[in-house]
Amino acid sequence: QSGHFTYDPGFTSTASCESKITYIDGDKGILLYRGYPIEQLAEQGDFLETCYLLLYGELPTAAEKADFDMRVTKHTMVNDQMHRFFQGFRRDAHPMSIMVAVVGALSAFYHDSIDISDPQQRMIASMRMISKLPTIAAMAYKYSVGQPFVYPQNSLSYAANFLRMCFAVPCEEYQVNPVLARALDKIFILHADHEQNASTSTVRLAGSSGANPFACIAAGIACLWGPAHGGANEAALKMLEEIGTPDRIPEFIKRAKDKDDPFRLMGFGHRVYKNYDPRARIMQKTTHEVLAEIGDTDDPIFEVAKELERIALQDEYFIEKKLYPNIDFYSGITLRAMGFPTSMFTVLFALARTVGWIAQWMEMIEDPHQKIGRPRQLYTGSPQRDYRTLSQRG
Ligand code: SDX
Repeated sequence: QSGHFTYDPGFTSTASCESKITYIDGDKGILLYRGYPIEQLAEQGDFLETCYLLLYGELPTAAEKADFDMRVTKHTMVNDQMHRFFQGFRRDAHPMSIMVAVVGALSAFYHDSIDISDPQQRMIASMRMISKLPTIAAMAYKYSVGQPFVYPQNSLSYAANFLRMCFAVPCEEYQVNPVLARALDKIFILHADHEQNASTSTVRLAGSSGANPFACIAAGIACLWGPAHGGANEAALKMLEEIGTPDRIPEFIKRAKDKDDPFRLMGFGHRVYKNYDPRARIMQKTTHEVLAEIGDTDDPIFEVAKELERIALQDEYFIEKKLYPNIDFYSGITLRAMGFPTSMFTVLFALARTVGWIAQWMEMIEDPHQKIGRPRQLYTGSPQRDYRTLSQRG
């Protein structure tokens, strides 16, 4: 009250925008893309079908799907000039730092040729990002391991192409494992969109000023990197490896409950889900499939994760605070089993989430009432006061 602005604490607008794209019921653990349950899309469809659904609002017919797949596949190469961006990075640079920079640099190639007031050109820009993000992500990985970049192969599916660009080497034949490709495709579907999460809100806010979509997606990648958000998959696996064996779980559960300890169970809890994250259920099943395929069904870290989940879900602290595993809890185990280093986990999250960011950006741009975002604040600083000269300050 002392000269500060008063505010009504009851005034908390929970809805930041209207959207037709993704629906979450956090209490029931429901996730729908354009009305379709994530479980059905992940089990019965593929990632490019989900991309079409998120962008156009309907599932594609066979002809529409074939055309969409062709339009994505035909643009998976990047301008060879982009190879030079990588040279400025140390080989041990975190791949997410490369993604922020190189995706932002895409605007240098398309900025002046994309008129975002033209719906057709907006879709072209959007499709270019869906096409090129895997290529850039694979290049970031290859650069980090000191191997030559691998060009995309148009005869492969989206996920298979990405696996090959990451793991093929010029000196021998590379056969994509179809079970791993299918699992990765499913993982991309699970990560495709998630309503107004922090990185999507970042993309919307950046786009509301009229910034070009490539720069907006780069802003989304930067936000996703944080360990409280997309960086949690990397942090969760590191936490599970630190726990190491089931007998050490109680020690970590105790730390997670200790108000004075900043440690939190990574991959647990969610702002919206106060029930089991439906994506985590599918993720755990996919982890089983991948571990069985590579013959590692008794992966000790997977056993630790399942035991940690079992103990936490019976603990009164987690029950009271409605803390459940989220999408990031099991994903790292699966991606590591596929051969990805922890530093690539959030890169894969960004690769998959690009279509959600783009769909949300397009929805925002197409809103005729859309204005530049301008959040307000509650001012708690000094009341107005007069300047004092140095001699007056003592
Ligand atoms: C993603 O928004 C999205 O949709 C994001 C995402 C997407 O698809 O885009 O779903 C992806 O980011 C998933 C979340 C990944 N992050 C993590 O797994 C990091 C660990 N989780 C926590 O940092 C936390 O749960 C958050 C950040 C995810 C959610 O934060 P909230 O909703 O702000 O929860 P909170 O911090 O207010 O926690 C509520 C209470 C607190 O205790 P009190 O202050 O009420 O006493 O629960 C506790 C927290 O201390 N708590 C945890 C915990 N998460 C919350 N305690 C221990 N371990 C945890 N993981």
